Amino acid sequence: LHVLVAAAVFGYLLGSIPFGLLLTRAAGLGDVRKIGSGNIGATNVLRTGNKKLAAATLLLDALKGTVAVVIAARWSHDAALAAGLGAFIGHLYPIWLGFKGGKGVATYLGVLFGLSGLGALAFAVTWLLIAFVSRYSSLAALTAAVVVPIALYMTDMPKAAGLLALMSVIVFIRHRANISRLLAGTESRIGSKG
Ligand code: G3P
Repeated sequence: LHVLVAAAVFGYLLGSIPFGLLLTRAAGLGDVRKIGSGNIGATNVLRTGNKKLAAATLLLDALKGTVAVVIAARWSHDAALAAGLGAFIGHLYPIWLGFKGGKGVATYLGVLFGLSGLGALAFAVTWLLIAFVSRYSSLAALTAAVVVPIALYMTDMPKAAGLLALMSVIVFIRHRANISRLLAGTESRIGSKG
């Protein structure tokens, strides 16, 4: 059990690095938490108008999840799952930001990529399709969060499916405000500054 706790703590520390905040600050764009939705993720970094910075935020926020999973997988599959959950929770509740973190979508994808390439592909295809059609980043993420646990279950990864289902529930809870805006028709679309 102590291996699982160590893996979770290791994942948490990696996951709690707030790349969106660090990159926007380093680029002299100020505090990303004061613009748009106030989130520290790639979607909100894009609202600064800097596409490269948004792409880098997506990549690094995902990578911390992947790295946590891949390193812990050397201990055991359960350790990989624990590290992945730790990284995801770290992104949501980073110790460095008074536990006020992001919504977890990029880190979710990174953790998933570390566990299952096919699962990550299912996420990417779903996200891109819904984002292309609707221009809503949140709706794309929420739809992908429904598809992923089913895809993992169907590809014979029941434990990973269980973990990702739990993470999907948390993603939905974190998107409460987005869901209200989607229902009210006031959610901002990709490419708009609001
Ligand atoms: O990944 C977060 C995205 O789904 C929503 O971000 O900034 O529009 O709340 P935001």
